[in-house]
Amino acid sequence: MPALPQHLLTCPVCALALQDVGRTLACERGHRFDAACQGYVNLLTGRGSPFEGDTSGMVEAREAFLDSGHYEPLRRSVVAAALRDAEAPAVALDAGAGTGYYLEALAAAVPGLFPVALDLSKIALRRAARRLPGGVSIVWDVWRPLPLADASVGVLLNVFAPRNPGEFVRVLAPGGRLVVVTPRPGHLAGLEEVGPLLSVPAQKADDVLAAFAGALVETGREDLDYTMSLPRDLARSALVMGPAARHQGPGGTTTPPGQAAPLEVAARFTVQVLARPGHAGRRAGCTAVPGDGTGG
Ligand SMILES: C[S@@+](CC[C@H](N)C(=O)[O-])C[C@H]1O[C@@H](n2cnc3c(N)ncnc32)[C@H](O)[C@@H]1O
Ligand SMILES: [Zn+2]
Repeated sequence: MPALPQHLLTCPVCALALQDVGRTLACERGHRFDAACQGYVNLLTGRGSPFEGDTSGMVEAREAFLDSGHYEPLRRSVVAAALRDAEAPAVALDAGAGTGYYLEALAAAVPGLFPVALDLSKIALRRAARRLPGGVSIVWDVWRPLPLADASVGVLLNVFAPRNPGEFVRVLAPGGRLVVVTPRPGHLAGLEEVGPLLSVPAQKADDVLAAFAGALVETGREDLDYTMSLPRDLARSALVMGPAARHQGPGGTTTPPGQAAPLEVAARFTVQVLARPGHAGRRAGCTAVPGDGTGG
């Protein structure tokens, strides 16, 4: 495990600081959390989480799709939004990081950045740990108090993943920024031939803003639209990697890959930046809201 910044992670049992002791995170009271051989650390204690992270099928589909480069324009946009007109952050957290695709690019753009990937899915975090050798990948449920110190995070990424506004605000440093990606109506239009899509509400970005009202101010909002030409196997991955897969029975397309024309599929995102005002001590009590059940 790479050098962990002092006072960044907190013990999920007693809230004291976690220190990096070889391949183990430990607090002064003796609570210890060993890194799995795949590189992530599971901090979920006791009852764990009632929620489910992405399954291996979803993670494999996501990795195949992201590797194809079709979300590269989005990744560039996320990194630009995180760094535009800002000092280089020392710590970046990705809440619902999945395989660490976006955080990896941010870490590559900021020398010395310490990346923290949080996700409920161990399968996804195995990949994130590989992508983020200079950081830490933690199994955690974003609906629980985050195992990070107050005001410890310079950039917080949240890409098609659940949001916990109260906790996001607490861990953001004054002047820190939250980058949120949400899908817009029409996202993935063109995939209907492969399987049913979930509809995307029109006002997601406004809902995000409302959830952080009084605590964070919106400093940027950009719509990103383009068309992807997807061979059938990637079109299937685009469907399986997202929440629509949970609402789908087995089956789907029966066309063998390579035997049909590529599908023209819409990518429609909003990339939003919300900043914590630059003076310490201001924190609003927000209630948790459900994150994205759609998109990705
Ligand atoms: C649509 S995927 C997006 C992953 C990644 N941000 C990306 O875009 O590649 C949503 C992610 O949120 C994770 N997730 C869902 N519920 C969660 C929770 N309560 N706490 C932490 N992660 C959660 C899933 O395991 C999954 O990796
Ligand atoms: Zn402890």
